[in-house]
Amino acid sequence: MSMPSYLRRRQQLLAQMQARGGGIAIIPTAYEMVRNSDNFFPFRHDSYFYYLSGFTEPEALIVLIANGHEQRSILFCREKNLEREIWDGYRFGPAAAKAHFGFDASFAIDALDTEMPHLLANTPTLFYSTGNDTQLDSRLHSWIEAVRVKSRSGISAPDTTIDVRVLLNEMRLRKDASEVALMQKAANISGIAHTRAMQIAGTGRYEYELEAELHHEFRRQGSQAPAYGSIVATGANACVLHYSSNNALIKDGDLILIDAGCEFDSYASDITRTFPANGKFSSAQKTLYEIVLASQQAALDCARPGSRYMDGHSAAVKVLTQGMLDTGLLDKNKLGNVEDAISNLAFRQFYMHGTGHWLGLDVHDVGSYREADKVGDERPYRQLEPGMVITIEPGIYVRPAEGVPEEFWNIGIRIEDDILITPEGHLNLSRDTPKTVAEIESVMKR
Ligand code: GLY
Ligand code: MN
Ligand code: MN
Repeated sequence: MSMPSYLRRRQQLLAQMQARGGGIAIIPTAYEMVRNSDNFFPFRHDSYFYYLSGFTEPEALIVLIANGHEQRSILFCREKNLEREIWDGYRFGPAAAKAHFGFDASFAIDALDTEMPHLLANTPTLFYSTGNDTQLDSRLHSWIEAVRVKSRSGISAPDTTIDVRVLLNEMRLRKDASEVALMQKAANISGIAHTRAMQIAGTGRYEYELEAELHHEFRRQGSQAPAYGSIVATGANACVLHYSSNNALIKDGDLILIDAGCEFDSYASDITRTFPANGKFSSAQKTLYEIVLASQQAALDCARPGSRYMDGHSAAVKVLTQGMLDTGLLDKNKLGNVEDAISNLAFRQFYMHGTGHWLGLDVHDVGSYREADKVGDERPYRQLEPGMVITIEPGIYVRPAEGVPEEFWNIGIRIEDDILITPEGHLNLSRDTPKTVAEIESVMKR
């Protein structure tokens, strides 16, 4: 992504701050997390911080100041440290970071406690998201205290707080062209990885072997990391929604559910495919697969500007529930028609999750699902707009139970695609990942 994109976003946020009377915004990056002793988990920058900077080093924080005519963006980051750079690699340091990332000023992160009280003085509103970072919350408290003690000299501290994440959530919800290009790339890589897994899968292999193939493909195509914990679930494991052990033996006749997506330049993909271990769907597997596929198509038909966020879920639930009644998963005699089986939530025995979520820098991306400018639980779900990206991921999960036809026991199916809303309707970013029964069986034959 080019530097002007980040600069433009900072300007957009500053304009929104100015429209609310001006003030100061504080947006920190993530912490490094200890894994054990002196080992750290791989560092992943905070998505809000990255969205406004493109800066990927730990120990950094953005300050934006909108004060009438004066608008400034300031970066705090680690000092240059040639000794540490021998061990850990290059650090920009404040001077080079300021120039490279287009900030108006920069300071060493160690100068926070001395600089922040000056920057907070005489700013009416604090644009900050409290409750996410207790360490920073408490430091901020001490900085504000340091300003308040000067009140007798006519210096004022912010007296209003606005959650800066709420403003940023609305911005992040609508992806610009450069973000869409990265998300397309992420989806392409994940599609190649899913195809590879289908081709390598077979009875006698272990789930983790397929996980290794997925991650191998992610990395060799330039992705930095999986966007979330990959699920490779064979047989009954596919009915565990957040299955994570990935250590079971794949058996003949199993369906394999893979939910895996890579992150590319900080943007997530999130794709699920379900396919037969031996390359051929059984009749019972095919029956349920076609129902899930049809339900996904019904949700896809709702993916266009003007539809409400929940329309796709309702459409998918209708098709799934009808399928459950037709196949005997749900008892027609007891439940009556599809409307009844929906209103009394009978379908939830086999479909217990939502049909999707926002997708972007985070796999479960930010943004209100209801109309943002209203409050309360009854406010309508928001309308889809061009630039929004959602997943559509219906499924059916059949745990053994009395009254449930045995031929369907332990079948778990989910089909998940990444969908960009466009002015005309939508674009399926994961369209190249084999999906129909015919496509999957043909890919697995090769
Ligand atoms: N892989 C997480 C999800 O599908 O929401
Ligand atoms: Mn998902
Ligand atoms: Mn998923």
